[in-house]
Amino acid sequence: MSKFVMIIFGASGDLTKRKLMPALFSLYREKRMPDDFIVLGVARSTYTDETFRTRIGYDDTFSRHLHYLSIDPSKADGYAQIDQRLEQLTGETKPANLLFYLATPPSLYGIIPQHLKRAGLNRPGTRIIVEKPFGYDLQSAQELNNIYASVFEEHQIYRIDHFLGKETAQNILAFRFANGIFEPLWNRNYIDYVEITAVENMGIEERGGYYEGAGALRDMVQNHLIQLVALTAMEPPAKFNAETFRNEVVKVYDSLRPLTEEDLNEHVVRGQYTASGSRKGYREEDNVAAESRTETYIAMKIGIENWRWSGVPFYIRTGKQMPTKVTEIVIHFRSTPHQMFHGEDTPYARANQLVIRIQPHEGIVLKFELKEPGGGFKVKQVSMDFSYDQLRDVPVGDAYARLIEDCIQNDATLFTRSDAIEASWRFFDPLLKYWKEKPEAPLYGYPAGTWGPLESEAMMNEHNASWTNPCKNLTNTDQYCEL
Ligand SMILES: NC(=O)c1ccc[n+]([C@@H]2O[C@H](COP(=O)([O-])OP(=O)(O)OC[C@H]3O[C@@H](n4cnc5c(N)ncnc54)[C@H](OP(=O)(O)O)[C@@H]3O)[C@@H](O)[C@H]2O)c1
Repeated sequence: MSKFVMIIFGASGDLTKRKLMPALFSLYREKRMPDDFIVLGVARSTYTDETFRTRIGYDDTFSRHLHYLSIDPSKADGYAQIDQRLEQLTGETKPANLLFYLATPPSLYGIIPQHLKRAGLNRPGTRIIVEKPFGYDLQSAQELNNIYASVFEEHQIYRIDHFLGKETAQNILAFRFANGIFEPLWNRNYIDYVEITAVENMGIEERGGYYEGAGALRDMVQNHLIQLVALTAMEPPAKFNAETFRNEVVKVYDSLRPLTEEDLNEHVVRGQYTASGSRKGYREEDNVAAESRTETYIAMKIGIENWRWSGVPFYIRTGKQMPTKVTEIVIHFRSTPHQMFHGEDTPYARANQLVIRIQPHEGIVLKFELKEPGGGFKVKQVSMDFSYDQLRDVPVGDAYARLIEDCIQNDATLFTRSDAIEASWRFFDPLLKYWKEKPEAPLYGYPAGTWGPLESEAMMNEHNASWTNPCKNLTNTDQYCEL
């Protein structure tokens, strides 16, 4: 059996140090790495094996698996050196049990595979993981897909999005499809609307250069949020494997109701954080233009045109500099058809909600009405909650470790297929074009540390709905407050 080698391009960068190496180390510690595995870091910085190992900072038993080669991956001439080094490290001629990991700036995602092909390194048995973002619009994603298809077979290409590596994202599937009680309710007859929130309480930190060109739509919505929509809305595949699961994801994307002129004007709210207290405004951040119109917040109403979901709005939002960091899905069920307890002293019963918290304090909360103790029939909302903290003996695994291990085992289920990437960009492309052609389209300021532009609340009020804003200091799944 050929020795397994993982070749990381961009190995001197932040992702390698902060995410990939800890993931590899945890797989190694848990004896889940192949025997005698080799990691070859590749980047322009001039490290030796020794200085690279010191930089990564693990003990000798793990570090002795790490090696480094200094070349410029954007230039073709260094690739013969990669091949030589691989032969030297494995002791094999034309080693083929290779996993390439592209952790470089996205501008190199199209160049590196072409150099690999020219150097004959795209051998059968090799795999390639490409970091997000895969393209910046439909056309660029299609161009990238064409390049990859000319170098590798689709089963060798792993477009990574660490969101799907999270235990709680995968648990949406288990929750929906391993339980009988929710499925009969999981449709337009019983669900009024769905809310998906993925917000952060930090700004863009040191990433101004990247963020200016990306914005919230490309950074979060086109990939993470739309994947959560797919997990919430998809049909159960007959069997669970990479093809059947990903077929169902693509069906959801293909069912998204194309954005109309009305949607672009009225069902999309974009915002940008402004200075507040000690917090800087977005335009004051490093490497951000003083007149920047890049969105740091976006809220949208989207529709899925199929039998299950027709007429059920999905409200999705993401933002930087929000009051807290949280990712969650809230399913709002329809109210009871008749409010028999409502009276002068008794408020309307509230509709049931199911909250699926992806992070932090992962868990699931079902909210329902009960009678308040005492005279009369006053009802109030209570919740039944499950928190992953209750499974203390089962550590919640790291997303990167899970995904790297899946790739080593040739399991592409949790990676994005070429048609899904394109279907998702196809849906968002009109919005990107609209903003490009109409830079004067509204961009609302919101003070850093607040829940975003008030216009996004107004957008939901059309449906008699409002955002569920979790409390600032989240400690457990059942702590919620209204603004
Ligand atoms: N960091 C994260 O948490 C994170 C999360 C999700 C996705 N990603 C994605 O993962 C990728 C890597 O992220 P990162 O934060 O590690 O990026 P990074 O630090 O900006 O870049 C990684 C390495 O690429 C090399 N590089 C930079 N410009 C280059 C150029 N023009 N030509 C050749 N090599 C160049 C640099 O190494 P040398 O100068 O030594 O060559 C750098 O250390 C990015 O595409 C990012 O979008 C990152």
